[in-house]
Amino acid sequence: MIDSFGREIKYLRLSVTELCNLRCRYCMPEDGVCKKSHAQMLTQEEMLMAIRAAASLGITKLRLTGGEPLVKPNIVSLCRGAAETPGIRELCLTTNGTLLPKLAIPLKDAGVNRLNISLDTLQEDKYRFITRRGELREALDGIEAAHAAGFERIKINTVLIGGFNDDEIPALAELTRRYPIDLRFIELMPMYDSGDFGPEAFIPYTVVTEKLPMLEALPGDGGVAKLYRLPGAQGRIGLISPVSAHFCAECNRIRITADGKVKPCLHSSDELSIKGLNEEEMTEVLRQAILRKPQWHGVLSYSQRSQANRNMNQIGG
Ligand code: 5AD
Ligand code: SF4
Repeated sequence: MIDSFGREIKYLRLSVTELCNLRCRYCMPEDGVCKKSHAQMLTQEEMLMAIRAAASLGITKLRLTGGEPLVKPNIVSLCRGAAETPGIRELCLTTNGTLLPKLAIPLKDAGVNRLNISLDTLQEDKYRFITRRGELREALDGIEAAHAAGFERIKINTVLIGGFNDDEIPALAELTRRYPIDLRFIELMPMYDSGDFGPEAFIPYTVVTEKLPMLEALPGDGGVAKLYRLPGAQGRIGLISPVSAHFCAECNRIRITADGKVKPCLHSSDELSIKGLNEEEMTEVLRQAILRKPQWHGVLSYSQRSQANRNMNQIGG
């Protein structure tokens, strides 16, 4: 469906849970989330209904996010239902990877096409610090498991954090030489409560091209990412700049949170509820949400934080 600014909206990001087994500092508070009552969250049947409703409006690409989607007990059957929905041509999932050793094969069999795996550092102590509890080994084993299960074009998502991992940009980029994986550096977004980061943590994507002058720009459609490659590398490097150079004119997406709120824009507080509705009603609300997408999200900076009054785990990273 075409929105009010001529953008074709064909991508739905559905957050399937707010819960996570890690506590990344830019995404969640230390003590987790106050677990909302079951009754407030979308049921699996409602999620599948929302996917069908979205597909009827022309959504062809679906990404399941969280929180951490793989902590959801019924995630494999939800993926199977999503993959079987007529109109959904591409099913992707964003994960921290730690549960992939058990789940990579079942997810592949259920019809998941692509995985994005979060990894902000290659150093054990820094991984423990940023995730507040994770073990690097588990994430690396997850990437390995995804590869072994036959997922192609695995993407690693790295949030760029000044003073934390800007010194690791070359080492992280090296991964694309050693493995056929794509790496994406994402600017840290100043969310409602993105932790204890000071202004120095918010660095622009151009830091990557400065540290890696040998990067070759690639033509083509990386969606919201600008694409590059290290000479001779197997995988590509994508730079995503929500803060320093917004890509709202290319925005083709809409979001649904685990508690059933449709968000026309990630950084706006505008939300429309689909909880408890039937499929026809959901379709109407989704149509309204697409028509209410703003032209852009307004200024985002350390001092002008996102207007979304939720943390990332409550929206879908
Ligand atoms: N800024 C940028 N990206 C974020 N993510 C979560 N919180 C933020 C934030 N404040 C993204 C990361 C992570 C995914 C789950 O969500 O890309 O890999
Ligand atoms: Fe799209 Fe809103 Fe993100 Fe801009 S801020 S890219 S309009 S979701």
